[in-house]
Amino acid sequence: MATPKPDHIMRIASGYAISRALLSAVGMGIYTRLADGPMTLDEIMAEYGLLRRPAMDFFDLLVSVDLMGRDGDGEGARYHNTDATAVFLDRNKPGYIGGVLELWDQRNYRFWENLTEAMQTGKAQSETKQADASFFEALYSDPVRLEAFMDAMNGASLRNFQTLAKAFPFERYQTLTDIGGADALLSRSVAAAHPHLRCKSFDLPPVTEIAARKISATGLAEQVEAVAGDFFADPLPEADIITMGMILHDWNLERKKLLVKKVYDTLPKDGVFIVIEALIDGRRRSNTFGLFMSLNMLMELGDAFDFTGEEFFGWCREAGFSNFETIPLDGPSSAAIAYK
Ligand SMILES: C[S@@+](CC[C@H](N)C(=O)[O-])C[C@H]1O[C@@H](n2cnc3c(N)ncnc32)[C@H](O)[C@@H]1O
Repeated sequence: MATPKPDHIMRIASGYAISRALLSAVGMGIYTRLADGPMTLDEIMAEYGLLRRPAMDFFDLLVSVDLMGRDGDGEGARYHNTDATAVFLDRNKPGYIGGVLELWDQRNYRFWENLTEAMQTGKAQSETKQADASFFEALYSDPVRLEAFMDAMNGASLRNFQTLAKAFPFERYQTLTDIGGADALLSRSVAAAHPHLRCKSFDLPPVTEIAARKISATGLAEQVEAVAGDFFADPLPEADIITMGMILHDWNLERKKLLVKKVYDTLPKDGVFIVIEALIDGRRRSNTFGLFMSLNMLMELGDAFDFTGEEFFGWCREAGFSNFETIPLDGPSSAAIAYK
């Protein structure tokens, strides 16, 4: 047997600093700035008010993990985006995923300091811990923060929704309701790819105002409607397909099951329920991102958690659904589909 080495342990243990550096770079908007062209260290220092030694270490750390490029060595070397950071971390690109990284930069990174406490108490470590106002109360009363949250959701969901629009046979159905649809990204993505489909994006009133604006800005008002409501208190808008993107993982088991049953009761015979989540793999061994997301729900909300496809299908079976399938989406995410 080969002698074990500590390298893997140390790489993961120091990973917090690499994560921190990436989130700081996104928060500072450096990748967006580098879209205008490469910059020397002196130029970056002047623009961001940084000191030489830490700035040099910071940017070269990012170079060492392939999260930044650098032409040349030493004085005069110029830092630039990599192929991936140019596409995904430049705020002005349509593929920008940095919204969710901005959220982690500003909030989640520090919550994780209390992971052990969260596991011992089952309590959220987010704003709710201080109890002045919950994250969502503060969010819905502040249009700028709300819009930033929508951008963060888009960063996490855009590629999933685009993949779903191609992978699922929407041509067989006429209507879709997306529950907790945020700024209607799922409805807009699917409607744009399937012009016959009529979609409703259902969310709380402050959110549907943003959705309505984006629907009309993208010229999809004929096909997509923003409907305001509360998915616990109000009836769900009827449709052939009901979708939920990262909704069930926000709630405890009782509320998850309540929502699944409500969807079943709302769907027509032959209706379809699609959830889009970073589903944890059945043996709980390989989807690190799904497991991270589940603990992230603990940190944010306390009793919320992510789940495997089999767990979801079990709740669906209990509600009355009869057939099930899973479609892989972008990276660690999947669509779990239940047929009535
Ligand atoms: C995690 S976000 C998911 C957004 C989007 N579905 C996606 O996958 O990117 C959860 C969404 O659920 C909405 N939401 C939370 N509670 C709700 C409720 N009681 N009724 C309707 N929408 C709600 C939030 O406003 C937010 O837009």
